[in-house]
Amino acid sequence: MKAANARVFRNYYRQRTANQWHKIEAEVGTPDAIRPFIAGNWKMNMIPKSGIALAARIFDQCRGIKDVDIGLAPPFTGLSILGEYIKPDFLRSEYGLGRNVFLLAQDTFFEYKGAFTGEISPEMLSAIGVDRVIIGHSDRRANLGKYFGFGSSVARRLTTSFLAHELEEQKAAKTRDEQVIAALEHLVGVKPEILAGMARFLEDELKERAGESDEAIHRKVKAALAQGLQVILCCGENWEARAAHETFHLLDRQIRIALEGVSPRTIKEVVIAYEPVWAVGEGAEPATPAQISEVHDFLRNLIMDLYGEQTAASIRILYGGNVKPDNVIEIMMLSGVDGVLVGGASLRAKDFSQIIRFGLD
Ligand code: 13P
Repeated sequence: MKAANARVFRNYYRQRTANQWHKIEAEVGTPDAIRPFIAGNWKMNMIPKSGIALAARIFDQCRGIKDVDIGLAPPFTGLSILGEYIKPDFLRSEYGLGRNVFLLAQDTFFEYKGAFTGEISPEMLSAIGVDRVIIGHSDRRANLGKYFGFGSSVARRLTTSFLAHELEEQKAAKTRDEQVIAALEHLVGVKPEILAGMARFLEDELKERAGESDEAIHRKVKAALAQGLQVILCCGENWEARAAHETFHLLDRQIRIALEGVSPRTIKEVVIAYEPVWAVGEGAEPATPAQISEVHDFLRNLIMDLYGEQTAASIRILYGGNVKPDNVIEIMMLSGVDGVLVGGASLRAKDFSQIIRFGLD
């Protein structure tokens, strides 16, 4: 390891030892348990051939790196061929990489088999050499909902029926003329911004429901763990939740439901990724260091409540949302950040390699 990178790692561990976990870390003793984990989520990009070419360029630019766990998450169609390509022996002889490269799926289903057209089971993933699976990504939790065109029309119907219900109450006691007057008065009385706000709220709610629910994510986590897969469990608030100071409440709900019934033994196979929805994707601003630290501390405390100190000290918590070569060091230096989940920049070999080599160049 070159000097600059050694310093980065020293700082990395020193900063962690400066935080509230240092005592526990000393007890757990092994920094291996918190090896940095840098994962690239290719989302719906790369046909298999381009995926192999991209992986080859990344490995070439990361020769000899053994201290960082590297994850690649191609779409389902690329998993099989990439699984053949990233065998440890080949990676060692060709690129001097150790057993530190992992193949990740972007999702899985919770049933073992059956009439679930289009779904992929955890067993199917294991069978083609997948080690880990991303579960609960915000693209699936919420964002996909709007592409199904479901949210807004239902929100409109609900808003209308809410108003109808309000009016219904007034109908009961009055003559027809009075009802009309009451209805008009009622509508006039409801401020337009309240109506607009209500429609927006319902739309957001329904978008969430059209995507994956916390319960579905919970079932996926359990099914993947039962299959022996490691889970990268994503959580994160949208902008509306942050603006309404609901961030911690929401994260608490997402994590508690997802991990319900996950035993203290199997929680070791879980990595958490905090991805604020508003910070993800082209053109968005990454979360600030203060925002990242605050949430990572919150999540670690939550894990401590659920699983105790040792697990809280050793569980890896990643950050995702516009991680780039020019901000990765600052993010990795934050206490409590054990790695990053990278979207856009992971599709560019040079950028992703720089992120993996954070501090080395
Ligand atoms: P970006 O890095 O493109 O913001 O995406 C982050 C992400 O969603 C990774 O899963």
